[in-house]
Amino acid sequence: ANSFQEECDYLFKAVLIGDSAVGKSNLLSRFARNEFHLDSKPTIGVEFAYRNIQMGDKLIKAQIWDTAGQERFKAITSSYYRGALGALLVYDTTRRATFENLKKWLHELREFASPDMVIVLLGNKSDLSHSREVNVEEGQSLAQEENLFFMETSARENVNVEEAFLQMVGGIF
Ligand code: GTP
Ligand code: MG
Repeated sequence: ANSFQEECDYLFKAVLIGDSAVGKSNLLSRFARNEFHLDSKPTIGVEFAYRNIQMGDKLIKAQIWDTAGQERFKAITSSYYRGALGALLVYDTTRRATFENLKKWLHELREFASPDMVIVLLGNKSDLSHSREVNVEEGQSLAQEENLFFMETSARENVNVEEAFLQMVGGIF
């Protein structure tokens, strides 16, 4: 049988957002296929991946949307967020500008996303400790202020990637 039609109890949509090159596409490829690419290209438009997640006795199919962080490659915003129950909002712990820009992303979420969307804030590239520009406490306190879950991740070393997606799914179901 076609894997999309496999028996599942729930199908849900989640989105990845954040500045260009923070690692959104690699977080998704790590989660969906256990792949990481050092030389990945910027995303243009929208890409998708699916993964089945077992939560207790329920089989949940996650459909995860990934778009460009770069404004000129971004897909139309309202359709990107439509129907999404969860979001992973990503910054790069080695580039402070991507952390400062979270305000802009939170504004966009408030404008387009459902108010009860589950949002997990991710400080990615935790493996690059020598070039860190944002410390873990800053991520934690922003998450607390904005009422978000929070985690630092490394798509490269596969640290907290599974946990981040599962936290989002667990917040929804
Ligand atoms: P856009 O599609 O332009 O929005 O970028 P993106 O957020 O999808 O970034 P992408 O996943 O393409 O990664 C950008 C670069 O960062 C690539 O060179 C990746 O190899 C690298 N990268 C992603 N995650 C990590 C990580 O956890 N650690 C390290 N060291 N590099 C990473
Ligand atoms: Mg990308």
